[in-house]
Amino acid sequence: MGRLVIVSNRAPSIDGSTDSGGLVVALKDALGKGGGLWIGGAPEQQEAPSDSIVWHDRRDFSVGLVEWEPELYRDFYLGYCNSVLWPAFHGRVDLIDVQGRYAEAYATVNKRLARMIAQNLREDDQIWVHDYQLIPLAQELKALRVRNRIGFFLHVPLPDLHTFMAIPDWQNVARWFSAYDLVGFQTSRDLRHMINIFQHGLRGELRANGNIGIDGREVALGAFPISIDVEGFREFAVKGAAGTAPAPLPRLIGVDRLDYSKGLPQRLAGYGEFLEKYPGYRSNVSLLQIAPPTRNSVNAYKAIRAELEHLAGRINGRFGTVEWTPVQYLHRALTREELAVLFRYSRVGLVTPLFDGMNLVAKEYVAAQDEDDPGVLILSQFAGAAEEMSEALIVNPHDASDIAETIKTALDMPLSERIERHDALYRKLKKHDVTYWTSSFLKRLSPSPVSVLPYHRAI
Ligand code: ADP
Ligand code: G6P
Repeated sequence: MGRLVIVSNRAPSIDGSTDSGGLVVALKDALGKGGGLWIGGAPEQQEAPSDSIVWHDRRDFSVGLVEWEPELYRDFYLGYCNSVLWPAFHGRVDLIDVQGRYAEAYATVNKRLARMIAQNLREDDQIWVHDYQLIPLAQELKALRVRNRIGFFLHVPLPDLHTFMAIPDWQNVARWFSAYDLVGFQTSRDLRHMINIFQHGLRGELRANGNIGIDGREVALGAFPISIDVEGFREFAVKGAAGTAPAPLPRLIGVDRLDYSKGLPQRLAGYGEFLEKYPGYRSNVSLLQIAPPTRNSVNAYKAIRAELEHLAGRINGRFGTVEWTPVQYLHRALTREELAVLFRYSRVGLVTPLFDGMNLVAKEYVAAQDEDDPGVLILSQFAGAAEEMSEALIVNPHDASDIAETIKTALDMPLSERIERHDALYRKLKKHDVTYWTSSFLKRLSPSPVSVLPYHRAI
């Protein structure tokens, strides 16, 4: 039986301790017993890049760490990944920062990584590459005559052709996708965009089986909405809540990386409008926003941080009293256990990104609720999660009045309706959890089984 080889920009910690961020969280939950490999970068250790993988054995799988020269990594990660691809894929073409050295660094990292991976492969291994940092990897591996099956999953959204064309050399970027055997997306929206980019951007041909014929080869495509370890997260919430007290006031909660795609200023504007319009709620509700900063040296991220601090200060200045702070704003990462309890004790979960591949926070919020007295999820129509989670209260995150009215509806919602909506959402989550996501992707990638399933969640 072949091994599963996962490749991502961020490797999991070698001692099994927690990392935040959707990709790490999801894959750590998904990759289980059975001797799989997970190869990824160790950017915080940038010391002596060796152009070979350094292996660490965890009890459940082996982690292969790769290190890059700091300057190369900067141009790759902060540059091409997060100043070109991330803004383009999230529809923020105004934030794209094109520098020749960024594209070069992206190509170099992917080429060198492919060489290192190729040296460690066995014939029957299957490779599963993750996310926008590593799109060219299959093309590079195939150039090294690697014949293994290679799948790719895009965790972020894929924009429409028009937006995609804002990426310099976009046809080349689209061709990188076509070198995989299977490419998976979060939603049918993203899948449609890929088909359109292939058909109208590269003259690809849509076959009867749904595959795309392109440059003399065929690539399979599919939508595989990612999920969470529903039971595990619920257990954190139930156990944690047993020893702690609920919040003194009905609480709204937001938990997001401090990213411009998350719609945080718009969310605060909506909350401000709610307090303005419904004075009866002043001193009777609170908003807890947890937003750890990421990608700090990119200007757009510095700007969002300053904007958010300003907005939170304005709301607190305008409505706050000596006894009551309307917005509590935390910049740090919490443990999953802490988050689960906070979610359980929050009457409303605010998940209002302007554009998001899936958004795992939406799923975690639902999983953490008390089924006899559940909170209400307010979900952006532009989060991938909205395709499945239609029983949430769906909002337009650009519209402050819509957010304000929906907060009111959520806070006033009778228990019977809260239970009904939560029950429907929770059932879907249970049916399509992270194990389902992993196995459905791998089943499509190859008919022959690999040795990592079922997953083991207590890592
Ligand atoms: P993204 O992948 O864009 O960051 P997601 O919502 O899909 O967004 O995933 C974010 C993940 O990171 C979730 O599992 C969430 O619980 C976790 N996370 C976000 N903020 C924090 C935080 N402050 N502390 C701990 N975990 C966090
Ligand atoms: C999103 C991306 C992941 C990334 C994570 C954290 O979930 O899809 O690929 O790892 O954000 O971002 P960071 O830049 O800190 O890795």
